[in-house]
Amino acid sequence: MTDTTKTAEPCVMMIFGATGDLTKRKLFPALYNLAKDEHLPESFAVIGIGRQELSTEEFRAETINNLREFIPGEPDDALLKWFEGRTYYTGGDFDDDKKLFKDIKAVADEVRERHDIPANFFYYMAIPPALFAGVAQKIVANNLGKEDGNGNWRRFIFEKPFGHDLESARKLNAELLKILRERQIYRIDHYLGKETVQNLIVFRFGNSIFEPIWNRNYVDHVQITVAEKLGVEGRGGYYDTAGALRDMIPNHIFQLVTLTAMEPPVSFQADAVRDEQTKILNAVKCFTPEEALVNAVRGQYGSGNVDGTELPAYRTEDKVAEGSPTETFAALKLSIDNWRWADVPFYVRTGKRMPTKHSSIVIQFKQAPFILFRDTPVERLTTNRIEIHIQPDEGITLHFGAKIPGPVVKTGAVDMDFNYVDHFGEQVSTGYERLLFDCMIGDATLFQRADMVEASWGIVSPILDVWAAVPPRNFSNYEAGSWGPAEADDLLARDGRKWKNTVHPEDK
Ligand code: BG6
Repeated sequence: MTDTTKTAEPCVMMIFGATGDLTKRKLFPALYNLAKDEHLPESFAVIGIGRQELSTEEFRAETINNLREFIPGEPDDALLKWFEGRTYYTGGDFDDDKKLFKDIKAVADEVRERHDIPANFFYYMAIPPALFAGVAQKIVANNLGKEDGNGNWRRFIFEKPFGHDLESARKLNAELLKILRERQIYRIDHYLGKETVQNLIVFRFGNSIFEPIWNRNYVDHVQITVAEKLGVEGRGGYYDTAGALRDMIPNHIFQLVTLTAMEPPVSFQADAVRDEQTKILNAVKCFTPEEALVNAVRGQYGSGNVDGTELPAYRTEDKVAEGSPTETFAALKLSIDNWRWADVPFYVRTGKRMPTKHSSIVIQFKQAPFILFRDTPVERLTTNRIEIHIQPDEGITLHFGAKIPGPVVKTGAVDMDFNYVDHFGEQVSTGYERLLFDCMIGDATLFQRADMVEASWGIVSPILDVWAAVPPRNFSNYEAGSWGPAEADDLLARDGRKWKNTVHPEDK
């Protein structure tokens, strides 16, 4: 696991897509937070690269303004100054491998000399996925991508989505692996930057009390929910071609599934952890077309009234096709066909315009035998549950039964809560700090390997195919502000189970 007391390796970070939203909202604020905590070395600089023709001075002014807007709390002026002096810009056409890439090389040389930085280059591809391979090829063709054998490194972070189905992910992997080594490629999934997600490994394997019961002998089923209150928020153009399944499941939700289900890795080495995650993905049973129709549910939100506000239906959102068949909700019943999890369903769901923003993993345990309570007023025993809250409140709840005080035996359900903020205080983080830092020190544990990405697409592609072949007939099938379509409830009700719907206090 990363030692975050140390400083990142000296490097020049080059952000392709430097004038975009991700750069201003997440990447620069994350770099600022890293610098604030003294994780960035003196020998460090950022070159922003975009299509716009901006001067370095203009880009610096914009970056500082954005930092003032997007970092929480009062900015530290001395630190902003430090940043300003290390920020550069070069603009041009990404398709033109002559001018832009020559300019990048010239700026990189100049920046390295000025800040005494070795030839370590860290590329962040905050650009549309269709450009990933082409830009990487041009970087390599211009002698900026191959490692030079003198211990200097070249690393590339690729944003999601990495492919849009199994075939395209394979093609992209093959194109990149023709010019780069796997160890140079960092496929990012920002869910792995979340503290609670990383804590899953510590929670499971750093304690001795959970692991013995973390299997089919004790666990009845697992539920993973990533619910969003927001709609598509101006991203209709992208979202309408993607949908909830592609957008959230092969990446964020499968990260949660694998970390919940994997065997203990032999070490914290990147490949040891990723090997175990991949084994889980390979053990997830792929659906036949018939199974996909039964075990995968899709939904699309219609209009709704939430807290007195009228919310529009998905089909009327900006840049969404009229009569769009794109799903804004997806739920799956997955089976992990291995010794630990045989016959323990993993129900996963994600949706937009749900009643609350809440992501969690629920481990539902089997019920204790009732025999002892036969002759008491107790009608039902509480089932035990561990709920791992990922966001917005980060913490863990243990749900169990307790005796209600009084002369007769009556039981009630109680919760024991651990809350990150209460114990560790507010952490100021964009979720990208750890991931950027890890890339700068060469730790790929929290990044997806080629085989993981392909295994994930391998699971969802058959569902995408069936859904494309059988267009939805009942869209919209859930109201904005509800927990999704009735079919999602049926998916569990069929098995005598129910979703655990947790509503954030602010949304109650
Ligand atoms: C992104 C998806 O990857 O994750 C978005 O493209 C989604 O549609 C977002 O809203 C959710 O991230 P978070 O961190 O807010 O749960």
